[in-house]
Amino acid sequence: MSDSLREQYLRFFSRHGHAIVPSSPLRPENDPTTLFTGSGMQPMLPYFLGETHPLGKRITDSQKSFRTQDIEEVGDNRHTTFFEMLGNWSFGDYFKHEQIAWMWEFLTQELHIDPQRLFFTCFRGNKDLNIPRDTESAELWKKHFSEVGIDAKIIDFSERDGMQGGKIFYYDEKKNWWSRVGAPAHMPVGEPGGPDTEMFFDFRPDLGESCIPGTPFSGKFCHVNCDCGRFMEIGNNVFMQYRKTVEGFEELAQKNVDFGGGLERLMAASLNNPDIFATDLFENARKTLALLSGKQYGENEHETYAYRVVLDHIRAAVFLIGDGIIPSNKDQGYFVRRLLRRAVRFGDTLGIENNFTVQVGEAFITTYASAYPNLALESASIVAELLREEVKFRKTLEVGLKEFQKLSGDIISGTDAFILFSSYGFPIEITEELAKESGKSVDTAAFQEELQHHQELSRTASAGKFKGGLADQSEKVTAFHTATHLMLAGLRQELGKNVHQAGSNITDERTRFDFTFPEKVSREILDRVEAYVNKAIDSGAQVKSTIMEKDGARVAGVEGSFWEKYPEKVTVYQVEGPDGMVYSQELCGGPHVKTMADIARFGRFQIQKEEACSAGVRRIKAVFTAS
Ligand code: SER
Repeated sequence: MSDSLREQYLRFFSRHGHAIVPSSPLRPENDPTTLFTGSGMQPMLPYFLGETHPLGKRITDSQKSFRTQDIEEVGDNRHTTFFEMLGNWSFGDYFKHEQIAWMWEFLTQELHIDPQRLFFTCFRGNKDLNIPRDTESAELWKKHFSEVGIDAKIIDFSERDGMQGGKIFYYDEKKNWWSRVGAPAHMPVGEPGGPDTEMFFDFRPDLGESCIPGTPFSGKFCHVNCDCGRFMEIGNNVFMQYRKTVEGFEELAQKNVDFGGGLERLMAASLNNPDIFATDLFENARKTLALLSGKQYGENEHETYAYRVVLDHIRAAVFLIGDGIIPSNKDQGYFVRRLLRRAVRFGDTLGIENNFTVQVGEAFITTYASAYPNLALESASIVAELLREEVKFRKTLEVGLKEFQKLSGDIISGTDAFILFSSYGFPIEITEELAKESGKSVDTAAFQEELQHHQELSRTASAGKFKGGLADQSEKVTAFHTATHLMLAGLRQELGKNVHQAGSNITDERTRFDFTFPEKVSREILDRVEAYVNKAIDSGAQVKSTIMEKDGARVAGVEGSFWEKYPEKVTVYQVEGPDGMVYSQELCGGPHVKTMADIARFGRFQIQKEEACSAGVRRIKAVFTAS
């Protein structure tokens, strides 16, 4: 059923001239601003800013997304860490009129949702920001309602007066504005964003203007953004048309549409059941869990909560591992570890004492195999990682619990929590949950301090050990990125094949590049490296990317560090001169310029500085200078 909803959505937009593109990986490529892909929009950012998408101005997809901030919310009927976001995009092509008409048609004709159940919100405008009220969207929704005989009232929402029989509500920029970092006040200069119009489904029209009784949120009046559970947001149409400037906002060169709607939520609305864990996406895994635990989903509140945490966390871990993120103690890997360890702990609540994440994981792989074939391809390694992590955790859990029981006093100190974390593998939430069960609390602030201190130490030890640190995807940053590949090739030619990248950080002012080499590099050598880069630029070489088998690429001498992080098939960028000379050949996710002319316009490449970075690692700063 969910498979067909996903299909139906993609086909609907394909009929309206959109090219269907596959989901990007959960680990963003060359976007240092975030650890995970958390919305369909993230991988599309360059195209809002004017870059040409190879498949045109109308794109649709179902994007795998993971939001770490939702981890604490999992357990109710609608929050998940992992979700699929159905998306459609206009890169300076159609705008509000078409988008709203298509959404109306999709919801009411394709999903057969009763318009009486639908509610919409629009941006009320803000004079200080000089951004007008979005009356156009409100009027468009109203027109569609009237075509089915509903006289939809448009209301300026206020908590005090409630919904007043309205169907369309204006809210301020805290609700009806979207950017990667939220409301206008949080946006850094340069960040794109815009007003949005959101779509809601009412699960309890019988309640009039009231909340679901007995929920902690039930106030005097319910409203679409209320947390009582009566309404669910099922999609968000963002009109990405502004960019933050020092003074306020300016219009982008093109007007874009960014629609995102959670697949499970749309499914929940079309089934008129607010529990997304009851959808078919979780069915296989639910059955497996029932067999393993002997408990049925939905029987009692406490166990239902545990069921949801286990289902959500294992599903997310399966997708993350499928994208090459394996459990570890830092960065992205740490989230996978937390998810799995929490899942094991909540498995306890369901009375499961033996290893079980593999069976549940396999159930998810079966469910998603046709929509995400890479899960089937990677199933052996996914299963191996689940098992390894669970076995490891169960071993330490036993010892750790003993340690935990030895702790006296009502407050667990930051140091003790850190020891439980670093020596016994207890993510902080587990310590907190155990503490709560025994009526204690944890000094989490002190724990965070310890953690930070520890991370700083380990960061110094592995200075700059990250890849793809591009500040943005502007032309100049991209030119620096390609030039950095050439520089590494030059360094390897001069200093030997033991030189590898240890980190990079590229802005539109300079490239900062860390590489493995034990001693100072002389100015003569730096001059030769510089000359190598400029010769490549002058040669008029082209940049080509090819997909290769990982092993084949390695044997062919393609340069790369962190090989183990890459999937079996890798993208190799090659800079090749008109005479066939290969200046650089390196594993990378892009983006890169197409021809050397795209670099030459910024001037000559110049290495300004070379210095020690950490033991065995050197750091170079290079710029473009006017020639
Ligand atoms: N970017 C918007 C969101 O994540 C719509 O896709 O809600």
